[in-house]
Amino acid sequence: MSDYRDVNREYWDDRVAAHAASKDYAVAHFADDPGYLSEVVRFDRPRLGDVAGLDVVHLQCHIGTDTVSLGRLGARITGLDQSVPALEEARRLATAAGVEATFVESDLYGAVEALGPARFDLVYTGVGALNWLPDVRRWAQVVAALLRPGGRLHLREGHPMMWALDEGRTDGLLVVKYPYFETADPLVFEGEGGTYVTTDQVFTKNTTHEWNHGLGEIVTAVLDAGMELTRLDEHTTVPWDALPGMMFDAGGGEMQLVEHAERLPVSYTLQARKRT
Ligand SMILES: C[S@@+](CC[C@H](N)C(=O)[O-])C[C@H]1O[C@@H](n2cnc3c(N)ncnc32)[C@H](O)[C@@H]1O
Repeated sequence: MSDYRDVNREYWDDRVAAHAASKDYAVAHFADDPGYLSEVVRFDRPRLGDVAGLDVVHLQCHIGTDTVSLGRLGARITGLDQSVPALEEARRLATAAGVEATFVESDLYGAVEALGPARFDLVYTGVGALNWLPDVRRWAQVVAALLRPGGRLHLREGHPMMWALDEGRTDGLLVVKYPYFETADPLVFEGEGGTYVTTDQVFTKNTTHEWNHGLGEIVTAVLDAGMELTRLDEHTTVPWDALPGMMFDAGGGEMQLVEHAERLPVSYTLQARKRT
């Protein structure tokens, strides 16, 4: 089997231009409006705390919309991603937005070598990040190693219970199809040429290798890596159409189950602090 990193990198590289051009990532708004923030960061703001003057790293930053938004809130911001085209778009966006930001190419598990240890006050990540990683314990060790003592983690991510559901149902039933817990082997998906934003483009690189991680596995990985949990909120909304045909646009870029949203947490925010 090909290395999961190569397979997933091809998938992401193929989608970068369409994502940067899509109305959903709203790239043009950053240049047009000096106060514009991504909807993802706007959702996070009530929990995020003040980031002004902090050294912040955004892991798996993609085309940099959230990274640049954190820069606009006053953070000294670094974005890290494996995808060279994504980082090129992110640099273009930062320049157009007038935000100083550093973007670094690296695999997530190489982040400490690429950026240096104990350099950051805040690690910000999520919204479709953990599912690309085979080992959540190694991820948490990377996060802890990047943080200064007392530094914080802010993770908002798709909920593992949501990731475990059959996304193809047309009867409105929530049916568990995929593993909830982390598995040794990846879930291999052969997509049909689409993506999660509005675009006419049909893609050619459609295979992904992904993993789920249970909420307990994530929390325990964070604790065992030397951080203490400071907050864990489960949400009834998620910032993409995670269960197509079953969700409606709840505003602010958030999607919610049409029927009885109280049945299922579809995303969560986890915050932690590195022990001093
Ligand atoms: C869904 S995007 C992240 C979403 C981001 N929050 C956003 O919407 O802008 C996933 C990103 O993770 C990156 N990625 C996937 N696997 C990675 C890995 N092993 N190391 C570093 N980056 C990775 C991809 O290149 C992609 O840019």
